Amino acid sequence: MSLRTVLSVASEAFPLVKTGGLGDVVGALPLALTHEGIATTTLLPGYASVLGALEAATVVREYDDLQGGPARLLAGRARGLDLLVLDAPHLYARPGNPYVAPDGTDWPDNAQRFAALGAAAADVARGAVAGFAPDIVQAHDWQAALAIALLHYADGRRPGTVMTVHNLAFQGKFPRDLLEVIGLPPRAFAADGVEYYGDIGYLKAGLALADRVTTVSPTYAAEIRSPEHGMGLDGLLRHRTDVLTGILNGIDTDVWNPATDPFLAASYDARRLGRRAANRRALQARLDLALDPDALLVGVVSRLTWQKGLDLLPAVLPALIAQGGQLALLGSGDFTLEAALQETAATYPDRIAVSIGYDESLAHQIQGGVDALLVPSRFEPCGLTQLCALRYGAVPVVARAGGLADTVIDANEMALSANAGTGVVFAPDSRDALAFALERVATLRGNARSWRQMQRRGMKTDVSWARPAEQYAALFRALAADRAG
Ligand code: ADP
Ligand code: GLC
Repeated sequence: MSLRTVLSVASEAFPLVKTGGLGDVVGALPLALTHEGIATTTLLPGYASVLGALEAATVVREYDDLQGGPARLLAGRARGLDLLVLDAPHLYARPGNPYVAPDGTDWPDNAQRFAALGAAAADVARGAVAGFAPDIVQAHDWQAALAIALLHYADGRRPGTVMTVHNLAFQGKFPRDLLEVIGLPPRAFAADGVEYYGDIGYLKAGLALADRVTTVSPTYAAEIRSPEHGMGLDGLLRHRTDVLTGILNGIDTDVWNPATDPFLAASYDARRLGRRAANRRALQARLDLALDPDALLVGVVSRLTWQKGLDLLPAVLPALIAQGGQLALLGSGDFTLEAALQETAATYPDRIAVSIGYDESLAHQIQGGVDALLVPSRFEPCGLTQLCALRYGAVPVVARAGGLADTVIDANEMALSANAGTGVVFAPDSRDALAFALERVATLRGNARSWRQMQRRGMKTDVSWARPAEQYAALFRALAADRAG
């Protein structure tokens, strides 16, 4: 059977709306799949930034009452994506972060907001939009997962369903008395349905009921079947091993291209690495760091949450500075961690720069100017910043977790003798291991020739979407064939 169309359902898609890597992936995978002969339509909530970018939209479905107010589905294109947008102002017309109110707590009606997204997806999947019949529905993370449950409990034909997990830490857990409100029949509240430790679990439901489950790296696919990393879902994931696959993410190699990057002071490629020095200087100047051409300059671009392990950083920074190192950190998130990092920066103003906020240009300038990019995550489903770092000749220094372990080759002695290392890989969640990793980076950088070779190997690594897209296409085709047969 030839597979033509995927309905991708998500709450983020770069460049329309993004809080992290989920947005990057949802925004980039459709284009990559077109090279595999697969067309994707992406269903998103009607946040202001999404509605504002939509070109030539037509109304393809109207709801008198969807979770407490009128709503409509708009079809159109924006920034290269074919979109269906759920315009429901009572649910999505709110300022700031898509999930969190300005006071820092989750929006109290998130269950309804993402039940509406799931309901619209299930409608579309079952033919509500004339002329559009997807072969596969791919639901990304908990916000989209209810689509799979609603399709499972509906009568009649449905497309194949794929639950894609970007982060098991976010689960969408809500009180059981919402079952009817979110449109599920009483029988759905069962151990093999949406019931999750006495409540309703959106992600749990998607994992239990999807035809296939994917996550974003092979190592994470293995880790999440263990009690240590399964976050309460490992038993279910062990049960679903036969349909669980890990497919690595790629990055958009046009957006992340050091030879053409408009944010950089100097463009470069693997043959002209010397030009990076100008970016390093520009970065130090922008961040008020000492214009030291020799310091080991370490970068971080990250959400600041427990996952990312950056709370271990302040304790090891004095040692980095004693070796003459510098740090350029960009991130935002946990207020306590933001304050701790800012306090350390205030102690060493010309050696440590901490920029709190979200800044696309600075993220690119860090990748294009630092010697090493640090990702000390406790767990990391895939991770994208180490892929950008490889492409930009910033040597990744990463914890051995999830997709970080799958994408960076530790430059140990044997790897170097085989011309194979691309970075430094260390044990997660340990201050000593982090401190030792930074020492190793300094030692490795002491050998300029070998360091440059390592940068070049990283830059040659294929971090594009080509291979992952092939793997998704094969999985989608196999599923469509199974369902046809
Ligand atoms: P996660 O999705 O867990 O946050 P990823 O590494 O998969 O982690 O993706 C993070 C994405 O968000 C990358 O594209 C990274 O460049 C970007 N990013 C993270 N923090 C910031 C920030 N403060 N400013 C700009 N971009 C950021
Ligand atoms: C999540 C994960 C990250 C992954 C991203 C995209 O936010 O934390 O590791 O790269 O999703 O899949």
